[in-house]
Amino acid sequence: MNYTEPHVPTPEDIIPTMLSLASVKPGEAVFDLGSGDARIVIVAARDFRARAVGVETRKRLVKASRQKIRELGLSKQASITCRNFKKVSLRKVDVLCTYLSSYTLNLLTPKFMEELRPGARLVNFDYPVPAWKATKEIEVIPKGWTKPHSIYLYVVPATSNN
Ligand SMILES: C[S@@+](CC[C@H](N)C(=O)[O-])C[C@H]1O[C@@H](n2cnc3c(N)ncnc32)[C@H](O)[C@@H]1O
Repeated sequence: MNYTEPHVPTPEDIIPTMLSLASVKPGEAVFDLGSGDARIVIVAARDFRARAVGVETRKRLVKASRQKIRELGLSKQASITCRNFKKVSLRKVDVLCTYLSSYTLNLLTPKFMEELRPGARLVNFDYPVPAWKATKEIEVIPKGWTKPHSIYLYVVPATSNN
């Protein structure tokens, strides 16, 4: 993978919509691949009572995210792993909540097929997974934005390789 996702944060106000669309339940494992400043991880842990894990390679973001999680008293439910997301197992994930480009989602699709269990959900802002048909797509206009953007939901079918 030569292309590296830049750090472009998800608009704060649509994060609850993404997590609701994925029907996140208390205690579920929610991962954000490329967690940036941990904004998704924090909302998942604090407001949805998920076990939230962020995976991020940029050390500055990892440090700031960990500090924010400590300050918010969320260390029991939320953590940040400083690793390349290609190398992190997704076998125990219930929900992937991400903001990744279609290019990266396409590269990760074989890993999703191999590791995500049937019934796991993937919700991504703005970009679809090229090879998959969305279970649901909704349009949102984030605060301060002018045009509608999509949130895509995918539910891993029982025919995955698990
Ligand atoms: C578009 S930003 C999304 C940030 C965050 N998920 C959000 O929604 O606000 C993508 C993030 O992925 C991180 N990233 C890019 N490639 C990565 C990799 N291979 N492993 C882990 N993180 C990566 C970047 O540093 C960046 O913070």
